[in-house]
Amino acid sequence: MPVHADGPRVVLVTGATSGIGRATAGLSAAAGDHVVLLARRAEVLEEVARECDELGAASTTVCVADVAEDVEVEKAVAEAVDAHGRIDAVVHAAGVAAYGRAEEVPADVFEAVVRTNLIGSVNVVRHVLPLMRERDHGTVVLVGSVIGHIAVPSMTPYAVSKWGVRSLARQLQIENRDRPGVHVAYVVPGGVDTDIYEKAANYSGSPGRAPLPVSVGVVARATMRQLDRPRRAVQVGVANNVLRLAFTVAPSLFDLLVGPLFRAGATDQRADVEAGAGNVL
Ligand SMILES: NC(=O)c1ccc[n+]([C@@H]2O[C@H](COP(=O)([O-])OP(=O)(O)OC[C@H]3O[C@@H](n4cnc5c(N)ncnc54)[C@H](OP(=O)(O)O)[C@@H]3O)[C@@H](O)[C@H]2O)c1
Repeated sequence: MPVHADGPRVVLVTGATSGIGRATAGLSAAAGDHVVLLARRAEVLEEVARECDELGAASTTVCVADVAEDVEVEKAVAEAVDAHGRIDAVVHAAGVAAYGRAEEVPADVFEAVVRTNLIGSVNVVRHVLPLMRERDHGTVVLVGSVIGHIAVPSMTPYAVSKWGVRSLARQLQIENRDRPGVHVAYVVPGGVDTDIYEKAANYSGSPGRAPLPVSVGVVARATMRQLDRPRRAVQVGVANNVLRLAFTVAPSLFDLLVGPLFRAGATDQRADVEAGAGNVL
């Protein structure tokens, strides 16, 4: 794939070791960008960096960081700027999930889901947006979830965190209206075939699974498109609009049906899962 028309971009991808982040990093590399890869697992980041080099990245930089820790994000952003002098785009795909009723999920796990998904997003924009605003140039893509638009049983910490990400995206869109060159895009996947389900914390008794999944490549391509044509919100999932509509216009019917539909489509009732924190802590 040719280098982007304006030359190689500097693209920071969080959650780069797996799923949507990893696939998006690959597309960015194939587009000839300078790719900055951020996640917690150093060894896997090195593996992804090698993949990105092979795919044609202008360069790859690896940042081992926990997005929930503001100082680690600050250091990672400083490393990217030291290496390249700027950041043109951020794809923020780092995230974790947890299954369990509000009162079943242990306090530290509940807090870690909200810290990773919501506070992690805030930490990233806290350090990236001032640089973009100064240059009046740059795009932040926040990866939310359709669960940030509806309610589902047994995913309370995740739902709370993703409603927060959705709010954050809209707040940032309004706050940055004075910088026409700075864009905040919000990508909203439904079910995607990634490892997040098996790595999730789970206190519900049954493993989670992706309902009506789309491929990770579809979401990665929709995410990459935001770098050239950022949009306020992009729904990526076969059922997103139906779910959002039903939740809004027929809440009683939604509440009646969501429990059985969630159990049938988003969990595997034939299997058991041992209660545990997964990759959340
Ligand atoms: N899969 C779906 O069905 C689906 C649907 C809607 C929305 N989403 C959202 O899409 C995003 C990506 O999910 P995915 O399905 O691609 O999940 P995934 O395959 O599990 O990937 C998640 C990535 O986030 C990183 N990560 C997790 N906690 C982190 C932390 N504290 N600091 C830094 N990196 C962290 C993980 O790497 P390390 O473990 O190496 O840190 C991994 O690279 C998430 O925000 C998720 O909520 C997914």
